[in-house]
Amino acid sequence: MMNQAQESRPAESAHHDVVAVIPRVNIQAFCEDEQTARVMQAVASDRRMAKAHMDVELGGIEAAVQVFAASQTPAVLIVESKEHRQGVLEELGRLAQVCDSGTRVIVIGHVNDVVLYRELVAQGISEYLVGPVHQLQVIESIAALFKESDSNPIGRIVAFVGVKGGVGSSTLAHNVGWLVSRDFAIDTVITDLDLAFGTAGLNFNQETAQGIAEALGASDRIDQVLIDRLLTKCSDRLSLLAAPGSIEREVSVDSDALETILAVVRNNVPLVVVDMPNVWAPWTKQTLVHADTVVITATPELASLRNAKNLVDFLKGARPNDRPPLLVINQAGVQKRPEIPVAEFAKALGVEPTVVIPYDAVVFGTASSNGQMPSEVNAKSKVAEAIETLAQIIAGREQAAKASKFSLAPFLSKLPKLRKS
Ligand SMILES: Nc1ncnc2c1ncn2[C@@H]1O[C@H](COP(=O)(O)OP(=O)(O)OP(=O)(O)O)[C@@H](O)[C@H]1O
Ligand SMILES: [Mg+2]
Repeated sequence: MMNQAQESRPAESAHHDVVAVIPRVNIQAFCEDEQTARVMQAVASDRRMAKAHMDVELGGIEAAVQVFAASQTPAVLIVESKEHRQGVLEELGRLAQVCDSGTRVIVIGHVNDVVLYRELVAQGISEYLVGPVHQLQVIESIAALFKESDSNPIGRIVAFVGVKGGVGSSTLAHNVGWLVSRDFAIDTVITDLDLAFGTAGLNFNQETAQGIAEALGASDRIDQVLIDRLLTKCSDRLSLLAAPGSIEREVSVDSDALETILAVVRNNVPLVVVDMPNVWAPWTKQTLVHADTVVITATPELASLRNAKNLVDFLKGARPNDRPPLLVINQAGVQKRPEIPVAEFAKALGVEPTVVIPYDAVVFGTASSNGQMPSEVNAKSKVAEAIETLAQIIAGREQAAKASKFSLAPFLSKLPKLRKS
């Protein structure tokens, strides 16, 4: 099994979408060479490891044996060996004498040897990785140690943020969430973090209560039961954790409470769309850094460009093991407005736009006043097409999108009617 996994993802690019949650644990790594130590440093500083504490040392298994002769072993021990089968087994035999029974051990070896792998598993080694390893592969292995075998995979958090007010970020977040849940049958929760001015409830024509505000106000008892009660169901597969959309009460957002809320939500659905307000605060920064995917929406103007550049640079720096954020250029081609050409915008940011959405006051205006989605107003419009492409990418189905020449959405939307007749 290990060998298949190794062979099927040799390229770095294959590692990029690791959705992982790693708890507050101590991890120690003993590497044989500098290169592996650098990879372990990259593991230690990854966003997914924010709660864990990780030390990286050289000297391989022998160094570990010496250190732990005099001290307790951590929750997770990662050791590297350059030996062949027999040598690895002997080294690990010595380690076993000083290793606490609760410690989980990941071995990085340099021989691709199934017999060795089986032997190690039989001896209680949690994982054997064949080097050279990639940081995300190691993170995935650590996360697997803490995953209960019967639990669902944790959901992906996709945060939508606008580079300035009114660029259309919320509209896109809601549309993408809606499309992904409908066309790809992926259970989705849209979380509206624009507490005072959020529009998710309005856009889905839902009477919503306090939603997220109530959860934030009850930070000591955030659990599944509370979140379930606060969700508003929009369809079979789409729910809303709405914002109050009122200025009656001022709600301050605590980063930790928000993190707990999102952790509960992602435990239960594969996709969590987060609609971020255009605010720069510790909690917005933290939410963006920790999202699995960030979608930045910008209009093709100068102020947008400056903010987009700052945001992209910040996120690239804070998320070195992630793909760059997705860029959406929205409201392009407003008549008579001087605009920065898309190519120039992309060049300045060093990120190609995933989609460019034209300005279309009719489609968006009608959608907005009818409580509909642009795709419902006119499924054949350029706007609907672009949003659909974005939804396909968020759903992880871009290959299917490229392969098919026609859009499935209008076809699928007719299905219930066909069934009835
Ligand atoms: N491509 C477009 N063409 C025309 N109107 C658009 C387009 N995209 C969004 N809009 C409209 O722009 C308005 C603002 O959109 P939205 O609320 O989604 O922006 P936002 O970036 O979330 O703003 P905020 O800063 O308030 O959070 C809405 O009325 C929406 O319908
Ligand atoms: Mg918004």
